[in-house]
Amino acid sequence: MKILVTGGAGFIGSNFVYLMLDKHPDYKIVCLDALTYAGNLETLEEAMKNPNFTFVKGDIADRECVFDLFEKENFDIVVNFAAESHVDRSIETPEIFLKTNIMGTQVLMDASKKYGVKRYHQVSTDEVYGDLPLERTDLFFTEETPIHTSSPYSASKAAADLLVLAYHRTYGLPVTISRCSNNYGPYHFPEKLIPLMIANALNDKNLPVYGDGLNVRDWLYVEDHCSAIDLIIHDGKVGEVYNIGGHNEKTNIDVVRIIIKQLGKSEDLITYVKDRAGHDRRYAIDPAKIHAQLGWLPSTDFETGIKKTINWYLDNKPWWEKIISGEYQQYYDRMYTNN
Ligand code: NAD
Ligand code: DAU
Repeated sequence: MKILVTGGAGFIGSNFVYLMLDKHPDYKIVCLDALTYAGNLETLEEAMKNPNFTFVKGDIADRECVFDLFEKENFDIVVNFAAESHVDRSIETPEIFLKTNIMGTQVLMDASKKYGVKRYHQVSTDEVYGDLPLERTDLFFTEETPIHTSSPYSASKAAADLLVLAYHRTYGLPVTISRCSNNYGPYHFPEKLIPLMIANALNDKNLPVYGDGLNVRDWLYVEDHCSAIDLIIHDGKVGEVYNIGGHNEKTNIDVVRIIIKQLGKSEDLITYVKDRAGHDRRYAIDPAKIHAQLGWLPSTDFETGIKKTINWYLDNKPWWEKIISGEYQQYYDRMYTNN
């Protein structure tokens, strides 16, 4: 079995590469990644030592590069993680989100169609469902919840999902889609809430909480997301969408307080800053379908996962210190100075 993993030098894609090399030692894994600001080859250093793993630098929206690769490799399965993934950046510069997330998906599907790929899997997000009211704790996103997006990021992911379903219906492309809630764990880029708060707390820097801090996210340990995708690409039904989540809703301020406590820091570091434009209030996934149909359940609870994550950031300081001392610092200054 030969699998193309796009975006494998990023957070979730790299965790997926490691899970697959470990769980399926007879599979060949090829990673295609453009190495944008969010991609990091150091993350794949261990994978590079495995003869079953190959890295290719390239853009999923570059038709020639993608078609050449498909011609050469004859993939059985394609799993598309490659994306511009940060909501705040999509508010600043939407265009690249449309190019990568929509046009890139189209190019990958055109190649999958031409070269007879047996499964095209699109890694999507719960953000395509918009948000839920805070006070309606009885409501959850199911696969039937209408698409209703808020940010250029979520709109681009929703557009890609619609295109994936259209390629299935119109051309018979064997597709599946997964829509997961917020992930956390190793190799998470420090622009996102949890790693940003860990890095700032360790450096005794302010912890910038948007708005009132009461927005709710439904956190899932990254390995659980990866194991769900592994199940879907093997046992999932073609043409279907699967929600992935572990019923672990927390307000942002609670998450920040948990991190502060674990690190023995002071809550005085918390600083309330200007809210994100169009900020989604609450996400909450109903994972009943993937549980009932594929038997998937998460295996890491938040208490265990956040400890593992914090320990990973403590043990891997060079990985994230290098990121926050580079070009990322300019983004941080733009985002958080005078806010
Ligand atoms: P990330 O930003 O950490 O990584 C994205 C990767 O894609 C990087 O390695 C980057 O270099 C690569 N990439 C970007 N543009 C590319 C292009 N044009 N061609 C090839 N490679 C390109 O993102 P992530 O958090 O790992 O998210 C991975 C996927 O999972 C995304 O599709 C995202 O929408 C989805 N998702 C993320 C979460 C989450 O909580 N992070 C939750 C649900 C779904
Ligand atoms: O739900 C899945 C989505 O989760 C994925 O599709 C996205 O790719 C991923 O980035 C994530 O989106 P969020 O916008 O939920 O994640 P982020 O880490 O950016 O923010 C989480 C919450 O924390 C959100 O309510 C905004 C808030 N926040 C974030 C940052 C970076 C802060 O309060 N302060 C911050 O500095």
